[in-house]
Amino acid sequence: MYQELPRPTIFAHRGSKAHAPENTLAAFKLAVSQGAPAIELDAKLTSDGEIVVFHDQTLNRTTNGSGAVGNTPLAALKELDAGAHFSQAFKGEKIPTLAEVFETVGHLLFINVELTNYATPRDVLPEKAAALVAKFGLQQRVMFSSFNHIALQRAHQQLPGVPLGLLALPGMVGAAARSWVGRRWVDYQAIHPEVRDASPRLIHSAHRRGRRVHVWTVNQRAVMLRLFQAGVDGIFTDDPPLAFSVLSELDI
Ligand code: G3P
Ligand code: MG
Repeated sequence: MYQELPRPTIFAHRGSKAHAPENTLAAFKLAVSQGAPAIELDAKLTSDGEIVVFHDQTLNRTTNGSGAVGNTPLAALKELDAGAHFSQAFKGEKIPTLAEVFETVGHLLFINVELTNYATPRDVLPEKAAALVAKFGLQQRVMFSSFNHIALQRAHQQLPGVPLGLLALPGMVGAAARSWVGRRWVDYQAIHPEVRDASPRLIHSAHRRGRRVHVWTVNQRAVMLRLFQAGVDGIFTDDPPLAFSVLSELDI
């Protein structure tokens, strides 16, 4: 399905994050109903080795809990409310497991699974995530991305056919990842630069090498327009309807 994705691909970032609580089933289902062909989500391990979909290292910002996700077992995470921080209308929304997301929307769209084992970069998240993709038969509907190139290599060893996206931090810190150094680290199919680094030059250079450019996180109409006109392959956006409205103006 990666080959057939519409270009530019609109990835609903953490689900449709502007319209529903991030990384919840509600946000992913909303992305489907808004017509997004793809979602992005953040995967990490609980203290008892389950994969949950959650962005931050700690629970404080988006739930009524506290402490590190990686120090908390799944049963305790399931007690928490992950919706009320966004709005009372979403009170009761839970932190989903990756299996629940695969089960709910896995066959409805394409999924960028970001391997976010940044606090524990050598954990078994890549192997477990790859095994889950295989269990659900989603090899054609998933790509892995990460700032951690070792996680990408390890996921690739398990599932060589699944595309990889190398995330690059903004500015100088991410310069190596965006250059030939990043290509030495891991043989990726797409570079994922931060929006300020997504220059026409970078897009051109990636295309010359047969690689895609997926840019994060793009929420402004003018920036979407600039990137679409520059031939970007995809954007991660909190607001898919806005991206579709810009696309319809462009007629590409
Ligand atoms: O995958 C794109 C983007 O999600 C990376 O940054 O912090 O939103 O996971 P972050
Ligand atoms: Mg992410």
